[in-house]
Amino acid sequence: MSETKIKITPAKGRPMLYWIGKKPLDYVKDFPAQLVEVFDPENNAKIPDIPSYENLKNNWHNLLSHGDNKDVLATLLEFGFRGKLDLIYIDPPFKSGSDYVRKVELRGLKNLGQIEEDKASFLQQTMYFDIWNNDTYLQFMYERLMLLKELLADTGSIYVHLDWHVGHYVKLLMDEVFGQDNFRNEIVWKYFGPTSTEKNFPRKHDYILFYTKSNNYYFDEAATLIEYDEKAVRRYDKVDEHEKRYKIYYDKNGKSRKAYMKEGKPTEVFEIPFVQGIASERLGFATQKPEELIKRFVVASTTTNDLVLDCFCGSGTTLAVAQKLGRRWIGCDINKGAIQITSKRLQNVILNEVKNLKKSDSSVALLPQNDKSHYSFAIYKVNDYDLQLLKTEAIELAVQHIGIQRIKTDAFFDGYLGKDLVKIIDFNHPLTLLDLQLLKDELKKRPNEDRDITIVCLGKELAVDPEIEKWNKTHPVNKIKLIELKTDKKYGNFLIHKPAEAKIEILRSSQNDKKAIIEIKEFISPTIIERLNIDNKLFKVKIPDFRSMIDTILIDNNYDGKTFHIVYSDVPERKNDLVKGKYEIEVNSSKCKIAIKIIDMLGEELLIMKEV
Ligand SMILES: C[S@@+](CC[C@H](N)C(=O)[O-])C[C@H]1O[C@@H](n2cnc3c(N)ncnc32)[C@H](O)[C@@H]1O
Repeated sequence: MSETKIKITPAKGRPMLYWIGKKPLDYVKDFPAQLVEVFDPENNAKIPDIPSYENLKNNWHNLLSHGDNKDVLATLLEFGFRGKLDLIYIDPPFKSGSDYVRKVELRGLKNLGQIEEDKASFLQQTMYFDIWNNDTYLQFMYERLMLLKELLADTGSIYVHLDWHVGHYVKLLMDEVFGQDNFRNEIVWKYFGPTSTEKNFPRKHDYILFYTKSNNYYFDEAATLIEYDEKAVRRYDKVDEHEKRYKIYYDKNGKSRKAYMKEGKPTEVFEIPFVQGIASERLGFATQKPEELIKRFVVASTTTNDLVLDCFCGSGTTLAVAQKLGRRWIGCDINKGAIQITSKRLQNVILNEVKNLKKSDSSVALLPQNDKSHYSFAIYKVNDYDLQLLKTEAIELAVQHIGIQRIKTDAFFDGYLGKDLVKIIDFNHPLTLLDLQLLKDELKKRPNEDRDITIVCLGKELAVDPEIEKWNKTHPVNKIKLIELKTDKKYGNFLIHKPAEAKIEILRSSQNDKKAIIEIKEFISPTIIERLNIDNKLFKVKIPDFRSMIDTILIDNNYDGKTFHIVYSDVPERKNDLVKGKYEIEVNSSKCKIAIKIIDMLGEELLIMKEV
């Protein structure tokens, strides 16, 4: 970790919201960015050692970072991106009090007719927890907003997607950080769908706070029209002295004339449906936003080649829209599953674009044909956040293994076990005296609580045992019991992680030494089998084709042992299609190392390589 201190300028505006623990962000530390994967189907990108603005500006590849955005944004500042972003769209956790779960369906089981019970093929994967206390949430957002302001260009715009949970607080934060004068509008996304109307008006909208860095910002009014058709708008490619768009056409006599775009009705309220289950853009990501909505912001606030950032990218909607509109992009998420979904999504978008380019139909391709630098991206890991996935997953697994009944309405306790109240201690630290103190303080606030308490933790500090013993001697009610998973024989066994295994044949073709044949003969993910058996206690699940467990296959035909270059990817577009499992790929005629990455349906990766 480097010790560079990156200065942050103080907040700009006057309105201020206070919370316990409010701290301005004076400086942050950057972190090393480790290059892990490259997608470059045109084989055109020159990947520099350090993805700094200077190194990339004439040699662009898009950036996707896996890490906490505080670290990633700090690293971007260190890499010279201060004031370089033209548009920021973020859709942060809403503090909605729920966990976001992704439904994972094994591939192809329905087609095979082997499993009648639909549910048998569903695994639930917790993508992220959205349960916060107010103070932590506000401090979290405050820090990110301060960093984003540093990165935004003086002519740039920022859109923050929120709803009734915390939108009113975040608006005050935005006023404080960006200045009230730079508030532009609150755009409403009105959606359909069931909402409870019991003793209330139905809640059917989110809103997006739109701020700019200054008064001098770019804005294309076409994006405000209700009937916004991107292809139609693009044809109006001229602008007159009144900033109105028009196109040139030739009348019957061959005389050139101007045609102005029909005035649609401008609005700040967009009625756009949720991304439905069957929609082609649906990726099974619970909080996925429609491309149609985000497209408005990208069109309104950027032109071709501008730089767009989404540091809570989720399934990558903003990045996909930016890519399709010929903008450069930077994305980031703390969740590995989100990075994998985004990577797959952008691979598909880019491959389609490259295919269209090759058809040399310039009306389809948005970018100048000679500018291929946009058709690539690289994935970096900033700091090490694999633990994040394990942590959320581990807690979920612990709950299921122990049989804890979850409660979501209690801000302190996590569930019941028999008659006991359960408190789960985050798995990233052992149970400490401080945790016990917090528990005691909580019990003090609940004098009528007569249940015993079970604490679930991974491990504990030594001082904890005598403290619990002392408490239990003096408290006939609210006795404390402990499940320490690291040593617990009954409950702890699930922590032993058995990695996935595969049998793969990799051979140089006997007919053509520039070809290699790869065949996946077998694959097993003990985690998936284990999860299926927990979710379906009544019967053991049989998976007739191992490919059901595989989401994606990536192949690098000349692996350097460090960075995986995705030269071939098998990402079936439809949920029910299986990966092919057998591939013929081009290789150098001299010795080379072939690497195959298998990503299973829960996002676990297995890397296998062989020299041929
Ligand atoms: C509401 S979702 C974004 C959905 C996205 N707009 C889409 O269309 O798919 C919020 C995302 O923020 C991510 N996230 C939460 N905390 C984060 C952090 N500290 N750094 C980076 N990403 C974070 C979550 O993992 C989640 O994917």
